[in-house]
Amino acid sequence: MPQQVKVTIIGSGYVGLVAAACFAELGHQVCCVDKDTQKIDGLRAGQIPIHEASLPELLNRHRGTNLTFTHDIREATREADVIFVAVGTPQSSSGSADLSYIDAVASEIARSVSGYKVIVEKSTVPVFTSDWIGRVLMRNGVPRSGFDVASNPEFLREGTAVNDFLVPDRIVVGGDSERAIEWLRRLYEPLTSGEYYSRPNALFSAQHRIKHAPPLLITSTKAAELIKHASNAFLAMKISFINNVANVCEAAGADVDEVAAGMGLDARIGSRFLTPGIGYGGSCFPKDVAAFRYVSEQLGVNFDLLREVEAVNQKQQENFVRKVASALWTLRGKRIGVLGLAFKGGTDDIRDSPAISIVQSLLQKGCEITAFDPAASERARQMLPPASNMRYAADAYAAAENADALMILTDWDVFASLDLGRLRRLLHHPIILDGRNLFDPDVMAAACFDYLSVGRPPVYAATAESAYASGPHRAADKQSPIGEMVAPLVLQSGPSSR
Ligand code: NAD
Ligand code: UGA
Repeated sequence: MPQQVKVTIIGSGYVGLVAAACFAELGHQVCCVDKDTQKIDGLRAGQIPIHEASLPELLNRHRGTNLTFTHDIREATREADVIFVAVGTPQSSSGSADLSYIDAVASEIARSVSGYKVIVEKSTVPVFTSDWIGRVLMRNGVPRSGFDVASNPEFLREGTAVNDFLVPDRIVVGGDSERAIEWLRRLYEPLTSGEYYSRPNALFSAQHRIKHAPPLLITSTKAAELIKHASNAFLAMKISFINNVANVCEAAGADVDEVAAGMGLDARIGSRFLTPGIGYGGSCFPKDVAAFRYVSEQLGVNFDLLREVEAVNQKQQENFVRKVASALWTLRGKRIGVLGLAFKGGTDDIRDSPAISIVQSLLQKGCEITAFDPAASERARQMLPPASNMRYAADAYAAAENADALMILTDWDVFASLDLGRLRRLLHHPIILDGRNLFDPDVMAAACFDYLSVGRPPVYAATAESAYASGPHRAADKQSPIGEMVAPLVLQSGPSSR
C-alpha cells in the first residue's frame, strides 16, 4: 500500500471538495475546511453542495472515515503534512486576480501551524504568488525553515471533475525544495504508479488499467504557476479561434463541423476544444485570460493576443442574440423557451455563464423567457432578479410550450435526446436556435424545424413555406458566389398572435 499522507484542504468549493474526495479515495487522511459554516454542516450531514458526477459516490465512501470536515483552520492544520489552498481567486476590476482570499488564508495558516508544513497552491494564481505566500507566513512569525510553498495547479473541468482528477493528462508539481516535492510525489503516487487503477473498487479502473498512469511533471514553482495560466489562456484562444472560423463558415455557406474535423485530424492541432458555440464562460477562462494578460503586462510583456480572444468571445454572445432577432424579426413580447442556464453541461455552475448573459440581454429587449436547466435553475433563480417576464419550467417540454422559438444555450446531453416531434407540436412556431450545435441539421430539416446553429448552414423548413415551397432543405444547398448579397438569415412571420 502507498504511504498515507495527512492532507488539509482549505476551501471546499468545486476544486477543494473534489480534490478532498479524490485524495481520500487514493487512501490519504483528508480534512476539508471552509469558512462557510452552513456548507460544512451540510457536508457533515451528508449533503452535497454542487452537482458533479461521481462526487456523491466518493463522499459517501469516505465521509467520516478518512474524510472529515471543519470550519476551524487551526484544528485542521495542526496535524497536516500538506496544506492545500483552494479558495477563490476572482477577477478584480483591473482584470488582475483578486488574491485577498489567498492572503487571508496564508495569515490564518501562519497563526495556526507549528512544525514543518508544505503549503500548496491549488487555486489558480499568477506567477510570484508563492513568493507572496512565503512572505506573509514569515511576516506572521513562521520561521523560513517551518514551511515550503509549492504549486500544484488543478486542470479538472466541471462536470467531469472526478474523472479528470483521478485520470488526469498530467500532474504538475512546482516546487523549489526537494522536501516539498517529495511530499507531493508521495501524495500522487497511487496515480503515477498506476497502482490505483488496479484496485478492485477503483472508479474508472477497468478502462484505465496500467497504460494510462499519468506523468508527473516537476517544475519550478513559477513555471507551475505559469503552466496553469498559459493552459487556460490557450484553451480559451482555441475556442475563440473556432468561433471565428464558425463565423467565416456562416458567411461562406460552409459547415464548421467539416472544417473542425479537418483541422482536428492534424495531431498538432487536435480535435478537442474545437466546438463552436456562444463563447466560453465559467468561473475560470474569463478571469484567467484577464489575469494572465494583466500579469504579463505588469512584467512588461504585451499580450494583446489575449485581448482579441476576449473580444471574440464577447462578440460571440452578441452574434447569437442578433441571430435570435434575425429569426424572430422583433423581440419585444416574443416568448422564448430556453434550454440550459449553466455555463456548460454536467454542472450547476452559472458563474459567468454565457447562457445567463444571453437570457439577460433578451429580457432587457422585452422577451418573455421560460427556462429549464437540469441542475442550474435554482442557482439562476437566486442570482437573477425576479422579473415578470422570467419563468422557470419543470422540464424541457414545458419550456418549449407555446414558445415562438426555443434556444439551446447549454450542452446538456439530455437535450440531444429530446423527442423532436413532441417539441414541434408544443412550440407555437417550430424554430430552434441552437447555440451548442447539439443537433444534426439534416435531422432538424427532416423534423420540419427552422434550425439555426453556429457556423453551419441554417435549415429553413417550417415557417418559410412561401419562400421555400419545395420543402425543407439546408440553405447551403444554394451556391452563393463570393461578392453576392448575403440573404437574411430567416424569413419570418410577424409577432405572435397571442
Ligand atoms: P469556489 O468559490 O467554488 O470555492 C471556494 C471556497 O473557498 C468557498 O467555499 C469559500 O467559502 C472558501 N473560502 C474562501 N475563503 C476561505 C477561508 N479564508 N477559509 C476557508 N475557506 C474559505 O471556487 P472554486 O471554483 O473551487 O475555485 C477555487 C480555485 O480553484 C480558483 O482559484 C479557481 O480558479 C481554481 N480552479 C477552479 C476550477 C473549477 O473548475 N472550478 C478548476 C481548476 C482550478
Ligand atoms: C476549464 C479547463 O478546461 C480546465 O482544464 C481548468 O481546470 C478549468 O477551466 C479551471 O481552471 O477552472 P471548465 O471551465 O470547468 O474547465 O470547463 P470547460 O470544459 O473548459 O469549458 C469552459 C467553457 O468553454 C464552457 O463555457 C464551455 O461550454 C466552453 N467550450 C468548451 C466551448 O465553447 N467549446 C469547446 O470546444 C470547449
